[in-house]
Amino acid sequence: MGYTVAVVGAGGISAQHFEACQMMDQLQAVAVADLSQERANDVAQRYGIKPYTDYKQMLEVEKPDIAVITLPHFLHKEAALFAASQGCHILLEKPMAMNAAECDDIIEAVKAAGVKLMIGHTQHYIPENLAAKAIIDSGELGQLVMIQDTRHVNYYADKRPAWFFEKNKAGGGIFMNLGSHSIDKIQLLTGSRIVEAKASVSYYGSKGDIEGSGIAWVRTKSGIPATICQSGYKGASKNETEIIFTDGKLKLLTSESLWISKDQKYEEVTVDRSTPPFVLQFNDLIRYIEEGIAPSASMEYSRSIIAVVEAMYRSEETSHDQAIAD
Ligand SMILES: NC(=O)c1ccc[n+]([C@@H]2O[C@H](COP(=O)([O-])OP(=O)(O)OC[C@H]3O[C@@H](n4cnc5c(N)ncnc54)[C@H](O)[C@@H]3O)[C@@H](O)[C@H]2O)c1
Repeated sequence: MGYTVAVVGAGGISAQHFEACQMMDQLQAVAVADLSQERANDVAQRYGIKPYTDYKQMLEVEKPDIAVITLPHFLHKEAALFAASQGCHILLEKPMAMNAAECDDIIEAVKAAGVKLMIGHTQHYIPENLAAKAIIDSGELGQLVMIQDTRHVNYYADKRPAWFFEKNKAGGGIFMNLGSHSIDKIQLLTGSRIVEAKASVSYYGSKGDIEGSGIAWVRTKSGIPATICQSGYKGASKNETEIIFTDGKLKLLTSESLWISKDQKYEEVTVDRSTPPFVLQFNDLIRYIEEGIAPSASMEYSRSIIAVVEAMYRSEETSHDQAIAD
């Protein structure tokens, strides 16, 4: 069976969704909506689909089977509720919403509408992450001991859209946007939810009112401790996750490579990159629609990530570590 797809928001990430649609026989992109007429027209022309500036009108007129929502974070709830009211299945970009209360509203509305919604937590589909998880689960390196996740990126680069720097539109800064990936990665690798967090953030950014760095200590329900260290200030970029076991180490460079060490040196692990992550993601949504098998990035799972981000911000405010209901 084939599904029509309309994309709400024609910004940076939308291209990945359109390209995945083009690779998949089951999906046919039909329309795109963006407040910017120029951007909507450009994207529509590139993919041979219809442009709209009003996403509600697009969903009412096109009645797509699937709405992909790639809007700024403060619009996720509104758009998800509207798409659900139109009977669309939904792929909603991460992070699910601005806070856990909004996630609850989305979960309730989606269940009432009888549609399927999953969150675009791409970490679940990135080949290096999946290969690392397979090694963890195999027990080849013994007992998993701890994880150290580090991300440096010039968050204040001119190319980043302005809304990312406004707390009331983004919900937070680097921890909300990229921290949600790290939380997701740690939960994915350990197969366990984070139930405790202590964090400290800084506000030295050149614009906006969001945090520009953060460091956090977290622990999963299964008892694995991890650190998340993120800086959006200047300097060389880094995206590295060290996974430490009793019998060795993994060095995970997400979307780049995976390395294994059993003694003093690292060797590169062969990774299966045959299916692009955004195709795997759509496959999960289709399976959810057709067979009712919830994806790993389910609504409830994705809410857990927002709950951890909120706990990190609470920890900064209170200087205490925070328990997170599992
Ligand atoms: N999965 C990933 O790895 C990944 C990567 C990048 C971004 N994202 C997520 O995707 C989402 C979008 O991020 P982005 O980088 O594409 O942002 P962006 O700013 O490039 O794109 C958002 C688009 O939405 C449009 N828009 C704003 N309000 C609108 C409205 N009311 N109606 C229609 N269009 C409207 C903007 O004009 C813009 O073109 C965010 O949730 C972000 O966190 C996920």
